[in-house]
Amino acid sequence: MDQFNYRDGRLHCEEVAVEEIAAAAGTPVYIYSAATITDHYRKLVAAFKRVDPLICYSIKSCSNLSILRLLADLGAGMDVVSGGELFRAGLAKVHGHRIVYAGVGKTDEEIIEAIDYSPDGSTRHGIRLFNIESEAEFENIASLARARGVICEATLRVNPDVDPKTHVYTTTGKKETKFGVDLERARAFFRKYGRNEHCRLTAIHLHIGSPVYTVEPYIEAVKRALALIDEIAAEGFKVTALNLGGGFGADYTSSQSPLAADYASAIVPLLQGHVDRGLKIILEPGRSIIANAGILLTRVQYLKKSGQRHFVIIDGGMHTLIRPALYGSFHFIWPARVARMHVPAKREQEMDLPGLDLCDVVGPICESSDFLAKDRRLPPLVRGDLLAVFSAGAYGMVMASHYNSHPLPAEVLVSGSRATTVRSRETYDDLVGREREATLLLGREED
Ligand code: LLP
Repeated sequence: MDQFNYRDGRLHCEEVAVEEIAAAAGTPVYIYSAATITDHYRKLVAAFKRVDPLICYSIKSCSNLSILRLLADLGAGMDVVSGGELFRAGLAKVHGHRIVYAGVGKTDEEIIEAIDYSPDGSTRHGIRLFNIESEAEFENIASLARARGVICEATLRVNPDVDPKTHVYTTTGKKETKFGVDLERARAFFRKYGRNEHCRLTAIHLHIGSPVYTVEPYIEAVKRALALIDEIAAEGFKVTALNLGGGFGADYTSSQSPLAADYASAIVPLLQGHVDRGLKIILEPGRSIIANAGILLTRVQYLKKSGQRHFVIIDGGMHTLIRPALYGSFHFIWPARVARMHVPAKREQEMDLPGLDLCDVVGPICESSDFLAKDRRLPPLVRGDLLAVFSAGAYGMVMASHYNSHPLPAEVLVSGSRATTVRSRETYDDLVGREREATLLLGREED
């Protein structure tokens, strides 16, 4: 599952005690395990080997450059959704042929950056595929490509109308979401745009939601996508790639998620025939690679009783990890140093161990939504203890904010017995650097 384990009651990331990272880097700090990232990536490659997919890591899940470089070195492509993510892919030297670009609201500037993309600043590669979400976007990309005298390739994002049974905020594959076009419209889309010379419509994309903890929604979505590909082919349009998006689960509690091999054994047999006839498969995993590869390490500031409730007030909160506040997500939380009887054999919502206290784990932000856990049973804590928030690698740091003017945390990447700062802790100067000088934008000084 991951390389965060207790040794003699002390939490380690690979070979390094996280207490030592806190002493050297301060808290709150995100800590990632390179071996876990590598292991998760390789397991996906191995599981889907028979269809040899292009695995485009979803940068949005955790965009730290060193992590992108690690994955790029392992052979991963990248799924980007903004000019900023494309810029990061460039710094990680990802070849354009391994980049797909999703997102419903690409601006003209972003589209041109993608058309002109080059990882080394020399020859223009462009990216492999634009994932198109609407007729208006197709027309815009085609006209920008024509104006620049290039041909780009595009994927139509379809909405297979399956229910991934996940949080409503991260459900994307149902008919009523803003993403993609429904299957009926997809056929008309190909008839209308399938012969465009500047933007060649050659692929189908879908992403049903995130996280998806059962394989059935994928089976249904893949069946519908393949049927669509066959129907489109019958009308003379060749679809050469199918992008299945991301959404594979992660273990927020022990063994919660199907393994890469489980998803693959449900999906691969459906794809095999089409792959044998030349269809390229693309995957866009984020969470399944990075969620369990990261923790957020925080320090207990105060303990407080209010009525019947016990509050553990830590130096992380909704500004460092917003998932509990935004989605009601569960993250396992446990001290970095525990007595032998409190070494967790499993990460569960209800820990069945003696001597635990019921508490709410909250942050310093001035909002009642600022909590990381409610009604959680934890070993006894004192001020100054370190608390680890597990499975925080995905949608953790990337969704962190400066709310209440807290500088962003540091990020540390561990590999074996080495720990490297891959993003230094922000300073107060970082908070105000762009505000120090006000510059006249419109009007005259004397007005
Ligand atoms: N591809 C597309 C088109 C997506 O929209 C997403 C995620 C992915 C791939 C990657 O999905 P993954 O493999 O990571 O599940 N902030 C939320 C999750 C939002 C997911 C957005 N799209 C959370 O914290 O749960």
